[in-house]
Amino acid sequence: MPTITFEQPNGTATDVEVAEGGNIMRAAVANNIAGIVGECGGQAMCATCHVYVNPEDAAGLPEPSEDEDEMLDCTTAERTEHSRLGCQVSLGGALQSIRVAVPSDQV
Ligand code: FES
Repeated sequence: MPTITFEQPNGTATDVEVAEGGNIMRAAVANNIAGIVGECGGQAMCATCHVYVNPEDAAGLPEPSEDEDEMLDCTTAERTEHSRLGCQVSLGGALQSIRVAVPSDQV
């Protein structure tokens, strides 16, 4: 099963298993990961699922869609080159594990 590691601003990390095809936001909400809200339910319309993908893992991800790219300009915490919307990044296939940092502010 694919695994997502969520790293909190205080350094604590939690591993969460996700079904093939599951996305980062849904996995976080289902496992009560602090700091991931997912207000719009995964429509790329709220940016409350913002995460910073570990640079080594980011290389294997598809580029953000136009909608995701636009919404990433609306994040509460600073956008960086490793910012992604958790609802737009799905695990499975070649991507069996990913490490993401949760921003200090989400709303
Ligand atoms: S849950 Fe709203 S943008 Fe991801």
